[in-house]
Amino acid sequence: MATVLAIETSCDETAVAIVKNRQVLSSIVSSQIAVHRQYGGVVPEVASRQHVEIVNQAIAQALQAAALDWSNIDGVAATCAPGLVGALLVGLTAAKTLALIHQKPLIGVHHLEGHIYASYLSDPTLEPPFLCLLVSGGHTSLIYVKACGRYEILGQTRDDAAGEAFDKVARLMGLGYPGGPILDRLAAEGNPTSFSLPEGQVSRPQGGYHPYDSSFSGLKTAMLRLVQKLQQTGQPLPLEDLAASFQATVARSLTKRAIACALDYGLTTIAIGGGVAANTGLRQHLQAAASLHSLKVMFPPMQYCTDNAAMIGCAAADHLEQGHTSPLTLGALSRLPVSDVMQLYHFEP
Ligand code: KG4
Ligand code: ZN
Repeated sequence: MATVLAIETSCDETAVAIVKNRQVLSSIVSSQIAVHRQYGGVVPEVASRQHVEIVNQAIAQALQAAALDWSNIDGVAATCAPGLVGALLVGLTAAKTLALIHQKPLIGVHHLEGHIYASYLSDPTLEPPFLCLLVSGGHTSLIYVKACGRYEILGQTRDDAAGEAFDKVARLMGLGYPGGPILDRLAAEGNPTSFSLPEGQVSRPQGGYHPYDSSFSGLKTAMLRLVQKLQQTGQPLPLEDLAASFQATVARSLTKRAIACALDYGLTTIAIGGGVAANTGLRQHLQAAASLHSLKVMFPPMQYCTDNAAMIGCAAADHLEQGHTSPLTLGALSRLPVSDVMQLYHFEP
């Protein structure tokens, strides 16, 4: 049983957690949303500075909340890829320093592997193989989870991530940031069949469409054109109907791909992760379609779907148990496919 202190600073949440295998002993999350809202999105330099200000305090709080000291900690983890490099470096440098001072192994963690491990936190009996539908502000991926550190990306977005599409569409409708929760609330009051919108399909060079990849840029452009056309009428925008139609289109598109992928690969469980997992339309569509095909869908609690360090600690504890640790020379990477996570570790074969 490995107990790990984990730090997550890849985007706009400064988070520290202490996790014993699949059990969360403490989880501190400090969101910067209020700071970035005035700019309409995350400003990387501002994010890094905020992480520097908050990280030490969050580490102390996590230890205190778990009532542990360093003698109880087996390893120190930090998200090291992918993300904003300046932001990642804050957490990674803090973790390296603590590992060095307290003579503990360092475990670098891939952010998306963390999102996958959020499902283990909500159901500690879950075992691979399963399919993870990861839908956040930065990623939209269908990942075949085979074992700790072994992932195959079966589908992804060719342009905007699902959450990014929600945020951009909310902005063009004159709504606030982040757009996902605002559109979700409006959609509840609207008619999803009011406007017919394109789902966005990704063509294959050999003809036909890629069954698991998605594209949201066409949908975003269609929303822009529709909003501009409606504005020309001089009438107030039908915000609820626009939100409901957009949300239903995204939910249909994601659901169709996830179900096809699970069935084709013979995977009976779909675990969902990322901030867009909160979306009411997606939850309803996916749940209904999964029941039809006797598939199980897992929606981890929201505090583990959005960025947090508990999921990073859970992944790190598993790697540590397998003997996977990272060198202190480990760098922060803005990009790294989740299929390449094993390059973060040196381990005895
Ligand atoms: O996973 P997350 O907290 O951060 C990233 O790693 O990106 O996801 C944030 C994204 C934002 O784009 C936000 O608009 C979206 O998740 N989001 C939602 C909802 N709640 C958050 N999108 C749709 N419906 C929601 N209820
Ligand atoms: Zn994330």
